[in-house]
Amino acid sequence: MAASAAVCRGFNVRHTHCPRTIPRTCLRVLRAQLSTRAGVGLTRPEQGPEQGPEQGPEQGPEQGPEEAHRHTGDTKKTGPKALHVLQAQRREEAERSVLISCLPRTHHNKFLKYLSRHGDVNKCFFYESFGTYAVVEFSDRDGVGSLLESAAVPSISHESVVPLRSRLLAVRNISTVDTQSAPQCQPQKALPINDLIQQLSSCTNLEQQIVSLTEAHSLTEENIRLRFLVCSLLNDVASAFFPDCSIRPFGSSVNGFGKLGCDLDMFLDLDAIGAGKSNVSRSTAPYVEYQMKRSSSERAVTQGVLSVIAESLEQLGPGCVGVQKILNARCPLVRFAHQPSGFQCDLTANNRVAMRSTEMLYVFGELDPRVRALVFTVRCWARAHGITSSIPGAWITNFSLTIMVVFFLQRRSPPILPTLDQLKELAGPSQKCIIDGNDCTFSSDFDKIQMKSNSESLDRLLSDFFEFYSTFLFNKMSINIRKGKEEHKPELGPLHIQNPFETSLNVSKNVNATQLERFVTLCQESAWSLQNGGTLTALLLPSHVAAIKSRKKRKREPASERIKGLLESLRTKNNGPKKCCLDAEVSEQFRSSSSSGGCFGGSSPPHTAETRAQSPESAPGLHPGASADHHHHARMRAVVILQPWSLQCR
Ligand code: GTP
Ligand code: MG
Repeated sequence: MAASAAVCRGFNVRHTHCPRTIPRTCLRVLRAQLSTRAGVGLTRPEQGPEQGPEQGPEQGPEQGPEEAHRHTGDTKKTGPKALHVLQAQRREEAERSVLISCLPRTHHNKFLKYLSRHGDVNKCFFYESFGTYAVVEFSDRDGVGSLLESAAVPSISHESVVPLRSRLLAVRNISTVDTQSAPQCQPQKALPINDLIQQLSSCTNLEQQIVSLTEAHSLTEENIRLRFLVCSLLNDVASAFFPDCSIRPFGSSVNGFGKLGCDLDMFLDLDAIGAGKSNVSRSTAPYVEYQMKRSSSERAVTQGVLSVIAESLEQLGPGCVGVQKILNARCPLVRFAHQPSGFQCDLTANNRVAMRSTEMLYVFGELDPRVRALVFTVRCWARAHGITSSIPGAWITNFSLTIMVVFFLQRRSPPILPTLDQLKELAGPSQKCIIDGNDCTFSSDFDKIQMKSNSESLDRLLSDFFEFYSTFLFNKMSINIRKGKEEHKPELGPLHIQNPFETSLNVSKNVNATQLERFVTLCQESAWSLQNGGTLTALLLPSHVAAIKSRKKRKREPASERIKGLLESLRTKNNGPKKCCLDAEVSEQFRSSSSSGGCFGGSSPPHTAETRAQSPESAPGLHPGASADHHHHARMRAVVILQPWSLQCR
């Protein structure tokens, strides 16, 4: 018990016991990878102050400086740090760093020797993205200053250069080339699915596969550093207009659920510009104020600011290409590619609620190692089957999927995750956080969050996740992580997942009936597969989808016709073992007819370019009344599917 508590402490699990059914080796691997690789949730009790400042300029919306300091001070004893503390630390590291384009065979030692003329180098690593690059972190900003002082302006004969100096450099000295070997490059992309499947096939059980997948997909320490460095480089451009602004990452880059290769969501924070100025005495003493351009609304201001930033990134930003202004979206944004890092970037402003969602997911991910493992697995499964897509459309998004996993874990008995309302109750008065009239209060104090022991294994949870959503009453009920229980849907859309902070909104409003149907069908098939000893490799294999599709094709033939044909053939053949085959066929028929005549009318088309292009409006709607018997049908399916004879005869 004492030993397991010690293991748990590293995970920051607040369960009174460790999940016993997770093998200790798996726990160790998860511990190592989730506490040092996932997101910025780096839990490094051994880390001393020399590795980064313990306080940063920014504070989370919910905490005053004293509280942040208390968190920081407590870290060695209690585990995870508050997200804003980690972010401040990462930002400070990034400000001491430069990004250098190198030749592919740069001699690591000579390169470091050259750099050390300018200052102590804390960290240096290489990666590839349209060439070889090095991220170099000096121990202080003087090192960066000295290197920039020494840098030359490119002399190009046929082109001109935009004379903007930045911390994106290129090393030009040929003597740093190593003729023997290339520097070791850090991976910046997740393994292709086929390679991943091959890797997973060498694992001995499902739990190991889940752990291995999580490890393969999690953001690496280096990738996280690079993400913060890109924000810092862009911050330099934006601060030409707004000297006190800050550009901070949010979303999966920092919430702990980021997969290598995921986009870089950034938030342009302009609030610091007004901060500290509000206490100017306006009573009787004379004072001056800034004359500022006025605009009709905050949205118009955001659009204007983002438009200017977009122009400057397009015209001046080193490495920024393909800049698009998407200013009429609900949340206006600028999208572009940052070529030297290979990141697809989305820059927003005035998007504080998303920052809160990020922190909320970070807290959930830190509470139990099984949360991230399950989210990574479900996201990978969804991507492998085209349930999610990088193209915007009627697909379920990764954010929605993550909320679905959180909801599922809140529904366990005993729950693995608390509800958002419970986290709100734990928040003190100083943690109250209202954004645009929305109550975004919750506690992220890990010491206060206590959960009852739940020892369910990852195998069990994954299988039950699929089962849970195979039988969920999507046509009637809404997923609500604030309350931790399903509620009646306030609107008719196929899938309703309540936005945790803007509670009148549905985060999955974009999802059409076809996509929901595909999700449910795959959940059914995957639950069946796992309940029958299937592995993760089988679940991720395209052939699994092909099998589902072929079954769906057969489904189009009227069930009565097929059963009639089978009875016909039975009449002409012997009984005995054939009966078993008939049973299998009939059970298959039953599954097909119950699913087609059940809650989801119509067949799901294969995941083609056409279905990708389908808009939510053009999709067939769900029969609102047709799913009344959904639970019943799904349960029946489970019973029929699980007949052992049905398996043997296939
Ligand atoms: P990937 O980029 O797919 O890895 O995941 P992500 O979590 O970063 O999702 P995405 O880039 O789509 O969105 C970034 C962040 O914006 C999310 O983490 C959420 O915090 C927030 N977000 C995304 N979609 C929604 C939504 O529909 N509603 C709300 N409230 N927030 C959202
Ligand atoms: Mg993202």
